[in-house]
Amino acid sequence: NVKKSSIIETSSLGDERGFLAVLETQSNIPFEIKRVFYIYSTKEDIRRGFHAHHKTRQALVSVAGKCKVHLDNTSRKEEVTLDSPNKILILEPNDWHEMYDFSNDCVLLVLASELYDSKDYIRDYEEFLKVYSKSTSEV
Ligand code: TYD
Repeated sequence: NVKKSSIIETSSLGDERGFLAVLETQSNIPFEIKRVFYIYSTKEDIRRGFHAHHKTRQALVSVAGKCKVHLDNTSRKEEVTLDSPNKILILEPNDWHEMYDFSNDCVLLVLASELYDSKDYIRDYEEFLKVYSKSTSEV
């Protein structure tokens, strides 16, 4: 079955000093976090991503600025705006994703369930459809 992406709201711990938001395995991130990377200083009109995965699950949060994410799980296409440090997008391996409309100050933080492995990427859209569209019919 195709797994559905989801959006999680983190609560910020705020006091007179400002705010602090926590991402933690089990308490709000539904996988063991093995890797963290961030995308920043993205040039104007750039669109990146253009892949799905075999195994990796990811959590995306724009900790500064904003960007949009195009999602496609073969049964459903969706656009998500990440514009808050409290809005976490959980991506399943079957979510083809493209990120775009980055603000100049956008820092897109990504938590991943697996170590980097280029073999876990599906970068060809036709291959993506082959791998995942079969299960779509069951949804
Ligand atoms: P790339 O996959 O092109 O980024 P995107 O999918 O967002 O367009 O990644 C850029 C480069 O960084 C590419 O050479 C692979 C490398 N990379 C790593 O070495 N480790 C990582 O964890 C990630 C995400 C990328």
